[in-house]
Amino acid sequence: MSGNLKGKNIVLGVSGGISAYKSADLLRLLMKEGATVKVAMSANAKKFITPLTFRALSGSPVYQNVFEEIGDDAMEHIRFAEQADLMAVVPASANSIAKMAHGLADDALSTLFVSFSGKVLVAPAMNDKMYSNPAVTENINKLKSRGIFIVEPEYGKLACGAEGKGRLAELEIILKEIIAQFCQKADLAGKKIIVTAGPTREPIDPVRFISNRSSGKMGYAIASEASKRGGEVTLISGPTNLVSPPGIETLYCECAEEMRRLVFDKFSQCKALIMTAAVGDFSPENYEENKIKKNLNGGNVLKLKRNPDILSEIATRKDGQIVVGFAAESENVFENALEKLQKKSMDLIVANNIAKPEIGFGSDYNEATFIKKDQQIRYLDRMPKTELANLLLDEIAELIEVG
Ligand code: CTP
Repeated sequence: MSGNLKGKNIVLGVSGGISAYKSADLLRLLMKEGATVKVAMSANAKKFITPLTFRALSGSPVYQNVFEEIGDDAMEHIRFAEQADLMAVVPASANSIAKMAHGLADDALSTLFVSFSGKVLVAPAMNDKMYSNPAVTENINKLKSRGIFIVEPEYGKLACGAEGKGRLAELEIILKEIIAQFCQKADLAGKKIIVTAGPTREPIDPVRFISNRSSGKMGYAIASEASKRGGEVTLISGPTNLVSPPGIETLYCECAEEMRRLVFDKFSQCKALIMTAAVGDFSPENYEENKIKKNLNGGNVLKLKRNPDILSEIATRKDGQIVVGFAAESENVFENALEKLQKKSMDLIVANNIAKPEIGFGSDYNEATFIKKDQQIRYLDRMPKTELANLLLDEIAELIEVG
């Protein structure tokens, strides 16, 4: 890879954390891709790596102190930053994320962030307990809801010796995501796309339900990427912990029946339906108005009935729409997916092997196989869900085009 960022002006924001040293490598990778990069540092970043390193590598003064001159070209430097094509904050500490979420401006990096109105990409890195703290989650969600792209940290051994989620994402992945910010296609402009996401909850009584492990991440990633490519997206979401991406109509539902109703309401006007949701196949035969007591009925047998199969039903109403389904399989992945594709008259099915712990439910990564109606197959390696979303949207845009 080289030249993918030719002519692009990028501000690399470095905040305090053990992985700050990795930004020096990222700087070199960005420059190798042709970008002009200037670095801004938070006050704490300087405790981990010196501004001199970045100055030497970038060949430019480093923005590190709001109140200090950085040479004759001080204003020019700040103007560059304000007019840059992208600001990438790598690594982003819990503190810098909190400041960005709340608009605090008390050092060079946070001040620059507040005065910057372009695209921003943030790659958090911190201890796993900090990362899972609800305050940090809320701040990250705030940034996401403003359209800031987050490169999720990875699971692994952390600098503090613990193991968990918090390690800075691989530099190659961060680089890919930065490049992706500039490759936005507009091939879905004006096209109405429905995406379903997340699990359904089938109520048993006022406090209990049957559900599944779907996190909704794949569907939300598809909705967000489709919208960036110009699509008019309606996201129909079961219960998740995710924030609705900006600029998208999000309709919430609980059970399969509600999801079915919403999909049917919107289907006739759409160009493509992408059924990422893990729709519950069964629901209790009877909903109990009052909480079921444990000493009732001896063994308490729960009788289940089949839920409507949304995709099978929608197949009979197809009028040129492209219909895409997902197959979550733990064995005979290919055969089972192919059978579903044919049985439910889909145009394309995305087959996932849910038996692999490092991908699928809850993960930010996925590994999938696309199978098309004409049995064309595309095997894909493990990759971030946003990347997979874009590959799938490439296929869908083509299918819409062909008609
Ligand atoms: N699906 C649906 N309605 C359902 C169940 C599933 O529309 N009641 C859709 C899913 O959104 C997915 C596809 O059908 O796109 C395949 O779902 P999956 O759960 O993998 O398969 P099922 O058809 O439910 O079959 P099985 O549970 O036997 O694997």
